[in-house]
Amino acid sequence: MSIKTILGRSLISPADFSVDELELLFKLCSRIITEDSYLRESCRGKILASLFFEPSTRTRLSFEAAMLRLGGSCIGFAEPGSSSASKGESLADTITVVSSYSDVIVMRNPKEGAALLASQYSRVPVINAGDGGHHHPTQTLTDLVTIKQLRGGFDNLTVGFCGDLKFGRTVHSLAASLSRYPNIRMIFISPDELKAPSYITNDILKKNNIEYIETDRLEKVIGDLDVLYMTRVQRERFLNEEEYLRLKDSYILTPDKMKKAKEEMIVLHPLPRVNEIDIEVDADPRAAYFKQAEYGMYIRMALIAAIAGVAGC
Ligand code: NCD
Repeated sequence: MSIKTILGRSLISPADFSVDELELLFKLCSRIITEDSYLRESCRGKILASLFFEPSTRTRLSFEAAMLRLGGSCIGFAEPGSSSASKGESLADTITVVSSYSDVIVMRNPKEGAALLASQYSRVPVINAGDGGHHHPTQTLTDLVTIKQLRGGFDNLTVGFCGDLKFGRTVHSLAASLSRYPNIRMIFISPDELKAPSYITNDILKKNNIEYIETDRLEKVIGDLDVLYMTRVQRERFLNEEEYLRLKDSYILTPDKMKKAKEEMIVLHPLPRVNEIDIEVDADPRAAYFKQAEYGMYIRMALIAAIAGVAGC
């Protein structure tokens, strides 16, 4: 098996790449982390277009930094108001044109399914950087590589997802992806109103016989977890601001709650954090969310290099 199978492919959903292909990407990523000069300049002459129809800090900047570190260049927009979308241009037309200017497109869009549609009009690979409350596969690559680097692998882990599991696309993609590894247990911690959608629990977890439970009490289960994945309540997806205000502080991870967790548990968060992790937790050696954001750039370097066909392994 070679990483060449990823060449020229789009990444729209978390299962688009096989577990073996992911393993090759993680290997590439780990070489990028340890060998400073590895793949530098390999994308010279190539152009990444980043089209962000929704706000972003880490995803957009880590993609752009990744391409620049590979020696390539970046074009794009960080908000749709500065693009012709604000004049009423269709996504199909935007993608048709931008794909004639670039070698790979990274897109974030508030509509579920937008990335898939874009890939049908694009002449170049499209990477989904978030489609509404649906999926965010490159955050999942980031999460997986962080778990692999810090915990050594995915088998036999108990992973807790806490917060907004209804609208949190990073939760949907990570749960779907982890369901492909042996002996994974998942614990979903949320208020009743923010439970994970059935296209994750019924269509993926139950179908694959993944052991999972749902609860609204973090304190009750924190001691069982190997990974705690905290999430922000997704204000922008609520139809009702009052409902958001009522639910926004459902869970706040504090040093006190961390006392009940295993010594080797790691805390992840896709960021941005609002209130859900007390800043005092940052000093706890188990807090891995800033490391996770850093790894996000390295795994995106590996992904671009593999899609562009410049990764030789
Ligand atoms: C996440 C997203 O956009 O879904 N952010 C990110 O890409 N790191 C999580 C969030 O916005 O809460």
